[in-house]
Amino acid sequence: MDRRDFAKVAAAAAVAAKVGVDAIEDEADATQHAPVEVNMSMPPKVQRPVSRVIVAERKLEGAGFPVRRPLPSAALRMMDPFVLVDEMGPIDWPAGQALGAPDHPHRGFETVSYVLEGGVAHADSLGNRGRLGPGDVQWMTAGSGIVHAELPPPELKRTGGRLHAFQIWVNLPRRLKMTAPRYQELVGKKFPEATSADGLATVRVVAGEALGVSAAIATHTPIVFQHWTLQPGASIEQPIGPNHNAGAYVFGGGGVFGADVRPVDDGQLALFGAGDTIAMAVDKAAKGPMDVLLLAGVPHDEPVVQYGPFVMSSMDEIRQAFADYRAGKMGSTPG
Ligand code: CO
Repeated sequence: MDRRDFAKVAAAAAVAAKVGVDAIEDEADATQHAPVEVNMSMPPKVQRPVSRVIVAERKLEGAGFPVRRPLPSAALRMMDPFVLVDEMGPIDWPAGQALGAPDHPHRGFETVSYVLEGGVAHADSLGNRGRLGPGDVQWMTAGSGIVHAELPPPELKRTGGRLHAFQIWVNLPRRLKMTAPRYQELVGKKFPEATSADGLATVRVVAGEALGVSAAIATHTPIVFQHWTLQPGASIEQPIGPNHNAGAYVFGGGGVFGADVRPVDDGQLALFGAGDTIAMAVDKAAKGPMDVLLLAGVPHDEPVVQYGPFVMSSMDEIRQAFADYRAGKMGSTPG
């Protein structure tokens, strides 16, 4: 195929992606060169239906930190490759009371921290040390092993204040469980943000692509991690690869989702069935906006054994993780 032909094919494919099969057939007739077999292999997009709605469980984590947890829960063990979704708070800590997670290890997966209000001070065995504030993201690949501390910043501890954040655990496939630890941080709203043409929907793209912007975080396997805010009257349809598991966790307001226009409210996780796109909308008469964490990823379809801070493929690997941690092989935080 010479360069000119390639350009034609690319143009035809681009048009097909935008307007569907019918229009491309017209285009083919008009120009007599579009490769019909390519166009016919591109079926129209299918909106995914909602397959289940999971109500997040309220838990006290660690020393008494309140979380809403849609998974793992009695109703849902995991949404492969996501093994944990914690919405921390919102909680108004009294002075001197704020809690965190002192030194602890992780192996075999990735932890994603996303702060909405307040902050988290952190330090890890790679020597990273810093602070996450509102709108900041830390994507930590624990891989073969990392030890870290996640604590309230000193002034939040001293004077008290509000904390609202997410912690999500993304599993790594077996072949990558012992990959070198990697640390990515987006501080100061460095991640791409976009607004729909009508101005009613905004998205912060931590991973994946939406409204023409791409993520700033590199992931080991395809992952979608997006914070959508839909104002009353907003309606969007977001492409999600058909090979992805997909869920939408509502953490403020409420709306309708999927081909079946299912209502989903604050504190609920909608899981989606087969298809190519996820539709979500908020009624014009709604009292306020809806906030949604849209999560999707290609499932690993492998055995998963989660035990405390480790997510591995077998109990033997879990035992090895404990042994390695005790032997100091995962390092320690710098004081
Ligand atoms: Co941790």
